[in-house]
Amino acid sequence: MQDQEPFAKLMEESNIFLDRSALSPHFTPDTLLYRDKQINSIVKALTPSLKGDKGRNLFLYGAPGTGKTSCIKYVIDKVKVLPLVKSKISYMGCKIYNSRYKVLNKIMSDHMPTYAKRGYGITDIYEKLISWIDQDSKILIVVLDEIDMVKDLDDLIYTLTRSNSDVKSGGITTVGISNNVSFKEVLDPRSLSTLYETELAFPPYNSTELSDIIRQRAKKALKEGAIDIAAINYAAAIAAKENGDARLALKMLTKAGENAEDGGKSKIEISDIKEAAKSIESDIAYDLVAMLPEHQKLLLYAISLLSIQGGKYKKLSEEVNGTFLLSGEVYEKYASIASSLKKESKSSRWYRKYVSDLEMQGLIEMMNSGKGIRGQTKLIRLRYPAEKIKATIEQSLFNDSEQPSDQGQG
Ligand SMILES: Nc1ncnc2c1ncn2[C@@H]1O[C@H](COP(=O)(O)OP(=O)(O)O)[C@@H](O)[C@H]1O
Ligand SMILES: [Mg+2]
Repeated sequence: MQDQEPFAKLMEESNIFLDRSALSPHFTPDTLLYRDKQINSIVKALTPSLKGDKGRNLFLYGAPGTGKTSCIKYVIDKVKVLPLVKSKISYMGCKIYNSRYKVLNKIMSDHMPTYAKRGYGITDIYEKLISWIDQDSKILIVVLDEIDMVKDLDDLIYTLTRSNSDVKSGGITTVGISNNVSFKEVLDPRSLSTLYETELAFPPYNSTELSDIIRQRAKKALKEGAIDIAAINYAAAIAAKENGDARLALKMLTKAGENAEDGGKSKIEISDIKEAAKSIESDIAYDLVAMLPEHQKLLLYAISLLSIQGGKYKKLSEEVNGTFLLSGEVYEKYASIASSLKKESKSSRWYRKYVSDLEMQGLIEMMNSGKGIRGQTKLIRLRYPAEKIKATIEQSLFNDSEQPSDQGQG
């Protein structure tokens, strides 16, 4: 018989957790603290649409973890139980529904599932949607969460806008949500004026607010006495510095709880929070890497490969200066990786912009070489373990199929 010992641990009761599911990212708490104003504004903005008139479009924006998704889901859950004859709602996360076609198809599968299954093209879907709205003057509220992930966003906005002139009655109201505060600047001006008819900002939480949010969740998720207010405030202070992100605060609480549990303790201590904060910092970095635009990924890939192989600077300088790389060799490596992937490499002007973007995101650090090395040059160093950055990029960029051929030699 197999050894049962590893499985026995699974059945053991936790000293820390009471209800782990309350810490899952999918959990919506019964009350959202400090968001009354936002919830009221959403309801107010959507009221005409919910009453059957074509209301104004709404745009929610704010940094990650400021409660945008929770607030809209909260409102949707509340209005879903009302007897709304003419209004229909479709919510979707655009990380998955990331094109006009996928968005329209999702609307179909929400409201006309049998039609959606037949796999029609975009023109047919559009016509069907228009006639469905016309049938009894429906108002469709389309909620596009993380809307900046939609690849052909201008086309999507155009189609949604156009639908309002193609229908005889009824219409579509759009609710756009973005984590990206400067999203406005990249939008086509016409899409922008459509989307931003009404806008609503979600400010970052301060440490007092975060402390209350953590406490509220800890009450549900942890056993009594498993954490005290000092540890909660400590976690809140860290999350407040990290852009007031409630998701991060709750993640920290979860990890700290796991740390305490692994240590056989029945109470989360400040040291557990500290440890959790450290591992989360690198998680955030790897998430950031996976979201970088293509050429910045290629550039960071070049930096990680050179860091593993050891750059020229290391060979030139006597001091053990770790893995500082010469800006010039990084550019060469980047260009050769791009060409081995049959992608046109960007000019050195773009290269300098990308390097400074990566620096601003805290992924690399830069230093002037000082005198000595062929005049002045910039030195670049990766701030996270090169192997792990390399693996992260390979996973998100190459989908195991097309690895650049130039990896080995350096
Ligand atoms: N005001 C709040 N009260 C309680 N929990 C919150 C609040 N705001 C955010 N959260 C929690 O923080 C996490 C992130 O919130 P979310 O709504 O996904 O943020 P966003 O969509 O702005 O990135 C979720 O687990 C959510 O339950
Ligand atoms: Mg969200």
